[in-house]
Amino acid sequence: MSHHELHGEVYYPSEQVVQNANVQNIDELYQWAYEHPLEFWEQRAKEYEWYSKWDKVLDDSNKPFFKWFTNAQVNIVHNALDRHQDTERKNKIAYYWEGEPGDSREITYGELYGEVNQFANVLKSLGVVKGDRVTIYMGRIPEIVVAMLACAKLGAIHSVVFGGFSVPALAGRIDDSQSKVLITQDGNWLNGKVIELKKIADEAVAQSPSIEHVVVVKRVGNNVNWNAARDVWYHEAMETASAECETEKLDAETPLYILYTSGSTGKPKAILHTHGGYMVGTATTLKYVFDIQENDRWWCAADPGWVTGHSYIVYAPLILGATSFMYEGAPMFPAPDRWWSLIDKYKLTILYTAPTAIRAFMRQGEAHPAKHDLSSLRLLGSVGEPINPEAWRWYFKHIGHEKCPIMDTWWQTETGAFMITPVPALPLKPGSGTKPFFTYEADVVNEVGESVAANEEGYLVLKRPWPSMLRTLYGDDERYERLYWGKYPGMYLAGDSARRDEDGYFWIIGRVDDVLNVSGHRLGTAEVESALVSNAAVAEAAVIGLPHEIKGQGIHAFVLLRAGYQESEQLEKDLVQHVANVLSPIAKPEKIYFMAKLPKTRSGKIMRRVLKARAQGLPEGDTSTLEE
Ligand code: PRX
Repeated sequence: MSHHELHGEVYYPSEQVVQNANVQNIDELYQWAYEHPLEFWEQRAKEYEWYSKWDKVLDDSNKPFFKWFTNAQVNIVHNALDRHQDTERKNKIAYYWEGEPGDSREITYGELYGEVNQFANVLKSLGVVKGDRVTIYMGRIPEIVVAMLACAKLGAIHSVVFGGFSVPALAGRIDDSQSKVLITQDGNWLNGKVIELKKIADEAVAQSPSIEHVVVVKRVGNNVNWNAARDVWYHEAMETASAECETEKLDAETPLYILYTSGSTGKPKAILHTHGGYMVGTATTLKYVFDIQENDRWWCAADPGWVTGHSYIVYAPLILGATSFMYEGAPMFPAPDRWWSLIDKYKLTILYTAPTAIRAFMRQGEAHPAKHDLSSLRLLGSVGEPINPEAWRWYFKHIGHEKCPIMDTWWQTETGAFMITPVPALPLKPGSGTKPFFTYEADVVNEVGESVAANEEGYLVLKRPWPSMLRTLYGDDERYERLYWGKYPGMYLAGDSARRDEDGYFWIIGRVDDVLNVSGHRLGTAEVESALVSNAAVAEAAVIGLPHEIKGQGIHAFVLLRAGYQESEQLEKDLVQHVANVLSPIAKPEKIYFMAKLPKTRSGKIMRRVLKARAQGLPEGDTSTLEE
């Protein structure tokens, strides 16, 4: 393939990578798909099984409430499991799994199918029916996959809450979704310690009256409190459950899941995804971008509690019949070479992780990966935040040995699947997510929605609907319309700032709203602030993100104390721990500054921008609205 001269630091794919790729002739395909978006997606949809076909690929008659594959009948689980049962894939490994203590399991497609059927029957026996919400609060164990698929099989809506969230955060999410059943586990291994998930779940359920039953997977064997009228052991219920269970035939637009994510207010947004479009979007992007082949061993090192895990640990790999690897524990446990030993041991071929992990490994030094044979790897990936070119080059050199292209995929909980991303045959530039995926149209616009010139910074927008897009915020159509489509009619506002260079490559700069990105985890400043003011000592709080060497952003909190409280090192420690207790350990502030006053506008809004500038010793910008 010939490329016109590209600007800046460019890495061209090798002949071998190009020849083996699932998508060939990409220049022609980009062009054709851009001009024929609905044909492109219709062809992709035909690669999967539907109980009955669609009338229309896209119904955009009620914008921004787009519908895909209207009136088709489908179930994502039919494509993830059922359809493989009459093929050789029945005996293929779906997941290799290794626990943090070193125990391991292998699960074939046939076994997973049986277990999902059994667990769907368990859920049925607990009264779960189509449309019910089920909250899942677990670690990285195979049963979380079973739990999600069993819900989807019945047409119930799962709401997975990341296992690192604390009691109030879990309770709030259960309450908002009005879940009937909670699925959890006794404990979770992390860094050689046990996180007592059942205990946290008990406290959350005490505040969440919608929960009728709690299903508990025994993972660690730690002691748990038991409420015999409410709690059910997973292994006991499974013993008597039938392995036959019919998959519900659903309209393509039937809700599949809710996933809460942070926004500008303290109330997380309940992103809603549906069966049909999400299925086609996630499977297609994984197949094209990570080039999944029959003999690959794919490792998406995210957590199923985030969207990356939903789309690329659970749904897309199973739909493609791929073999995945899942690791339960902390990356550096018991030593900084754990990940590299796993790649060697399981001969993994593709690794997809976050820049924060790469930076953390980089700090440990290249001697750790050098101890292991990483030659099975053929592709690498990055997600969650912009990757700094230095980390990109380290990853390329010391993990990929300069032969594995790095797929830097920009997307969001809302988009469901990769949006701005390379494919293996595309030349790469370290730090750029390259170009919109096939058929997509992204742009960088100014305050009034006009495209800005090359290399100018602006708001990142998406100008066309896509199959795996969120359909709404669960129970709040108005907020969905206002937040994502309200600023510029006809354009989806991503909430990121970006620039596009002279070659049409996109460079993501960061969030433009009050959202932080800490170690690739999305957190709202308002959530951290409300966690702080829920402490008796705190009258007011303002939180900002500042650059952090490993985490990307670290949280810095400015607090005004209530009368009668004195600042002290102990109080700083207590407040940091308080944030961990009421929100999550990932939200712990790096530093707390005790203030006599916070900069505010005359209308009383805290000016975080001013705090940020002062903290970094930068000019404060326009302060004309600052009160005296
Ligand atoms: O700011 C962007 C950043 O993460 C945000 C989405 O966060 P979340 O919904 O939690 O999903 C994370 C995993 C898909 C985006 O608005 N982001 C994600 N991927 C990238 C990124 N920023 C730069 N480059 C990326 N590859």
